[in-house]
Amino acid sequence: MTDLEAVTLRHSVRAYKNIRIEQEKVDEIKELIDALNEEHGLHIQFIRNAGNVFNGIASKFTGWKGVPSYIALVGERGAKLDELCGYCGEQIVLLAQKLGLNTCWAGIFRRRQVKAEIGENEKLVIVIAIGYGVTDGKSRLSKPIEDVTDVKGDMPDWFRCGVTAALLAPTALNQQKFIFSLDGDTPSVRVSDTGPFDKVDLGIVKYHFEIGSGRKL
Ligand SMILES: Cc1cc2nc3c(=O)[nH]c(=O)nc-3n(C[C@H](O)[C@H](O)[C@H](O)COP(=O)(O)O)c2cc1C
Repeated sequence: MTDLEAVTLRHSVRAYKNIRIEQEKVDEIKELIDALNEEHGLHIQFIRNAGNVFNGIASKFTGWKGVPSYIALVGERGAKLDELCGYCGEQIVLLAQKLGLNTCWAGIFRRRQVKAEIGENEKLVIVIAIGYGVTDGKSRLSKPIEDVTDVKGDMPDWFRCGVTAALLAPTALNQQKFIFSLDGDTPSVRVSDTGPFDKVDLGIVKYHFEIGSGRKL
C-alpha cells in the first residue's frame, strides 16, 4: 500500500476488536517512533495497554469501545510542539493503516490515566488510539477545495493533489480550519480560524499535502 492509498483508506475508528496487535507490527511502529523522536527531539511512546484512558463519561459520548493500545505524543514544551506532534503522529497513523490497523486521534481522554513518561519540561499533547477496528470507519463530508485555498490564477495539478490529500486528513471535530496558498511556485499553509487543536491539525494536513503533492512545505 502506498502512502497515498493509506491517505484515501484511512478513517477514524473508535470501536475495536478484542485482538492484540502482533509484536512484529508493534516493533515496526516503535521503529518509526524511535526515528521520529531522534529526528525531531520528541518523546513519543507506544503504550501497549490502554487501561482506562478511553473510559469514563466523555468517552461514553464519543463512542470509544475496546481501545487496546495508544500512542502518546509527548515532547518538550515550545511554540512548535503541537504542530510537530501532528506532523509526526500522522506518519504513525498512516503506517498503522498500511499494517492493516485502525486509529483515531483523541484530544479528549483521561489524561491522568496515561502511563507515558512525561519529563519536567515536557507536555502530553494528545494521544492516538490504535488497534483492529470493528469496522474500517467511513467517509465523511469535506469542505470544497475553493474554501481551503487562496490561489491567484490557475492551480497547478500538484498543488490540487496536495490539497485533495489534505482534505482527507483527520482534523479535530472535522473542523478543517486551514488555508493553502501559492506564492509563485512555493506552497504554504496556515490556520484560517482558531479552534481546538488547530496546530496539531496543521501538522497533520502538512504531512498529507506533502504526500499528495510530492513537495515539501
Ligand atoms: C487533533 C484531533 C483531535 C481529535 N480528537 C478527537 C476526540 O477527542 N474524540 C474523537 O472521537 N475524535 C477525535 N478526533 C477525530 C476527528 O473527529 C476526525 O478526525 C474527524 O471527524 C474526521 O473524520 P476522519 O478522521 O474519519 O476523516 C480528533 C482528530 C484530531 C485530528
